[in-house]
Formats: sequence, C-alpha cells, structure tokens
Amino acid sequence: MNIVLLGPPGAGKGTQAKRIEEKFGLVQLSTGDMLRAAVASGSEIGLKAKAIMEAGQLVPDEVVIALIADRIGRPDAKRGFILDGFPRTTKQAEALDAMLAEKGIKLDHVIEMKVDDALLVDRIAGRYTCAKCGAGYHERNQKPKTEGVCDVCGSTEFKRRADDNAETVSKRLAAYHAQTAPILPYYRARGALKSVDGMAPIDSVTSALSAILAGKPAAAGASKAPKAPKAKRKPKSPAKARPKAKARSKAKGSRAKVPAKKAKRVTKKAVRRVKRPAASVRGKVPRKAAKALGKRRPAARRK
Ligand code: AP5
Repeated sequence: MNIVLLGPPGAGKGTQAKRIEEKFGLVQLSTGDMLRAAVASGSEIGLKAKAIMEAGQLVPDEVVIALIADRIGRPDAKRGFILDGFPRTTKQAEALDAMLAEKGIKLDHVIEMKVDDALLVDRIAGRYTCAKCGAGYHERNQKPKTEGVCDVCGSTEFKRRADDNAETVSKRLAAYHAQTAPILPYYRARGALKSVDGMAPIDSVTSALSAILAGKPAAAGASKAPKAPKAKRKPKSPAKARPKAKARSKAKGSRAKVPAKKAKRVTKKAVRRVKRPAASVRGKVPRKAAKALGKRRPAARRK
C-alpha cells in the first residue's frame, strides 16, 4: 500500500506517518527528515538546503524529486510507503506520477489532514523530539510518560528544530497555501483525495486514517473531500418552469407538492400567455415575425 499524506506544517503528518508505519508495516518517507539528515551530514545538498529551510521556504523541486526517486527505489520501500511532506508543488506531484508509472507502482491513498492555521503555530512551537531516536513529543499534547525520559529509547536528551519558531512557521504556512494547497485539486480531480480532521485528538486521527486505509466506511474524524462546485445553471423563466411542475405532479401522483389540477391550470395559463403576443407587439410587426416572437415570452412580461 502506498500513501501520500498532505497537510500544512504541524498538521500531524509525521506523528501519524510513524503510527501507520508500525500498524501497516510500511516505510515513512519524509523529505523533511531526509533534508535535515543532509544538513546534519554537511553534504552539498545539506549546505544548500539549510538556509532555505531556516527561512521557511521550499527547497528546489529538482533536489527533493531526486531524493524521493532514490528512496522509492530502495528495497524497503517495496513493501509500501507513506510519503510525508512530498509532493509539495504541482511539479513534484507530476514528477511523482511519472516516477511511479515508470516503476509500475500504484498510489493507493492521498489523504489531506485538515487543521486551521491558528492551531498550527502552537503545535509547532511546543514540539520537540528525542535527540537519540527522533520520537516526537509536544509540551502539552504529547508528553513522554515519564517526564524528561523518551518513551521509546529511554534517552533524556531532547532537541528542537531550527525552523520551529513563530516567524519561520508563518513563512512555512504561507508557502503551504501558495505552493502546496494548489495540488489538492490535482488529486481531487482524479477522485483520489480523502481528508481527515487533523484537529481531532491524535488517537482519533489515527483511527480515521486506519479506517480509510482498511477501506472501512468513514470513521469519526474522517471527512469527505468536498467536490468541485458545479457550474451555476441559469434560472429558468417561469413559463418554462411551470410545465415541469405538471410533470412532477404527474410522476409523484397525490404526493406531489403542486396538486395536479392546479398545475394543469397554471400550465394552461402560462401556455396561453406565451402563445398570445403582447398588444404592443401585435400589429406593429409583420405576422411571421409576431408569430416567431410569440414563441418566446415577450421581454416586458418575463420580469
Ligand atoms: P517538514 O519536515 O516536512 O515539515 P512540515 O511539512 O512543515 O511539517 P512538520 O514536520 O512541521 O509537521 P507535521 O505535519 O509532520 O506535524 P507533526 O506530526 O510533527 O519540512 C521542513 C522543511 O523542509 C520545509 O519547510 C521545506 O523547507 C523543506 N521541505 C520538506 N519537504 C519538501 C518538499 N517536498 N519540497 C520542498 N521543500 C521541502 O506534529 C506537530 C506537533 O503537533 C507535534 O508536537 C505533535 O505532537 C502535535 N500534534 C500532532 N497531531 C496532533 C493532534 N491531532 N492534536 C494535538 N497535537 C498534535
């Protein structure tokens, strides 16, 4: 099973990706983690990415596309993966499609985690991770069971990300809305997009995601992505609309809202009105033209 998790910074992509990874035996592919590892190693990519990440901007598409192409090709990704933080631009989404098609890999789920911007700053400002194993925590929402001790590896050292400060977070949010949110319609148009309420408690979000992945009906916290709005129809003129009321009354019999008799009377009246041109029209135009005009309701009456 191959999944894309989409959502703004702090939406909980990383938190949930780790849980899904364990539960479904998949591998989490986080471009953020890959870039942070590159920065820590002092590689060429890391040196280029460092300043960009600290400024809250997106690293160039070519860099992250190359990182993902390499990572997806490794043996552990064959058992299925969760893309966390990729794609983030339309160019990346298209590149992902191309690389998956080339490898004959199918994308099973694209899930958007919806969270209001107001919540995100607090979530990110309160976040920290274990310096040894990378387990994620939050000052209020997700504390270690024993204060100051990592639940996973027992380490007592923790760290915070260089880009987790209020100023950079607002820039990361702006980048999300300008460059990443536009890829939602890309997946929605293909009927591939589902969404979960990322503001629900962490366990509820996990349940909602698990239900989607297991193909179960929508659980609490899951919400259907809204369809693209339909094109507005031009309102019909009363003369055209009335015969429909008759048809409806016929079809529904006694349950129809407009009684059949009344609808018939109304329809006849409408037809009479339509057939007989207005006095102002009669006599002023040739018969043929008057007849043609008569087929449509004269403008003055249509109001
Ligand atoms: P990246 O590392 O991907 O960061 P991000 O997308 O900004 O997302 P975060 O990791 O900040 O948040 P998250 O959604 O994983 O939330 P988390 O689970 O930690 O990218 C960093 C940078 O790298 C980018 O700015 C960019 O420069 C670069 N980059 C990365 N990918 C790129 C790409 N594809 N293209 C270009 N550039 C790229 O949760 C946050 C906190 O909230 C935690 O403390 C958690 O405990 C808490 N929390 C989570 N869920 C809940 C909940 N339901 N209720 C309460 N608290 C919760």
